[in-house]
Amino acid sequence: MYLPCTILCLLIGISTFTYGIEFDYVGWLQLRLWQALNDEPMPNFVERGNITIRNVRSGTLVIEQSGLSRPQINQLKELAKTDGKYRLQVTARTSSGSEATFLTSIPACYLLGSDLRDTLTLWLDSAAEPMAVSLSAPGSCVMDNNFAKMWNTSVLVKYPDAGPAPDTATHIQKLEREREARERGETKDNRSFLAKYWMYIVAVVILFLLSSASNPEAVGGGTGNGQRQ
Ligand SMILES: *[C@@H]1O[C@H](CO)[C@@H](O)[C@H](O)[C@H]1NC(C)=O
Ligand SMILES: *[C@@H]1O[C@H](CO)[C@@H](O)[C@H](O)[C@H]1NC(C)=O
Ligand SMILES: *[C@@H]1O[C@H](CO)[C@@H](O)[C@H](O)[C@H]1NC(C)=O
Repeated sequence: MYLPCTILCLLIGISTFTYGIEFDYVGWLQLRLWQALNDEPMPNFVERGNITIRNVRSGTLVIEQSGLSRPQINQLKELAKTDGKYRLQVTARTSSGSEATFLTSIPACYLLGSDLRDTLTLWLDSAAEPMAVSLSAPGSCVMDNNFAKMWNTSVLVKYPDAGPAPDTATHIQKLEREREARERGETKDNRSFLAKYWMYIVAVVILFLLSSASNPEAVGGGTGNGQRQ
């Protein structure tokens, strides 16, 4: 009973270790930002800029954004007046070659209230692949403001809590499914009787040897009885 447990614990330990290594090794991420300042259901995206995260672990990044033009500022104010949403589309490309597109939005008045100071938060999964993107602004909701034309964007990269955990639950469920399948007879245990039960047989033999070694008279007496009859 102890042996299987020890092996399982060792396996779990090893997988934690390798997961950690995988997560520490991460390359770059490129985000392309597209914004929509119109209020119609169909967003009309125009390019806003690029954010390159050179090293996901250390968080070194380069932000290249063009500011808002005068007509775009008026559009944003118009959007705020009608309680509209500023919509952002983010296309994320990673060094592993995957590409994903995310949509996020914020009521336009908050961007006015914070003088175009916004925070883009990027959530990564345990394989450092982007999972979600969201835009927020620290300001209050303001309808009009003589604000800046240039974005002041902070980027936050979020990792899974306390590093990636090994997927123990899934592993245990898999073991459980295999056990059930065995019980239903799907996976026939076709090992020989000896292969299945050798450890019990060895244990019984050892016990027998120990007990006969510590009590040789009982064995001898038994034999004696047999001879007398
Ligand atoms: C963003 O990057 C793309 C190529 O990945 C480039 O074509 C585009 O001009 C860049 N835009 C800005 C605003 O730098
Ligand atoms: C950008 O915002 C930060 C606070 O988040 C502020 O300290 C900094 O001065 C701002 N930069 C510009 C160019 O406005
Ligand atoms: C048990 O059966 C499977 C096929 O059902 C076979 O591949 C495997 O080699 C067998 N194992 C033994 C120990 O005979």
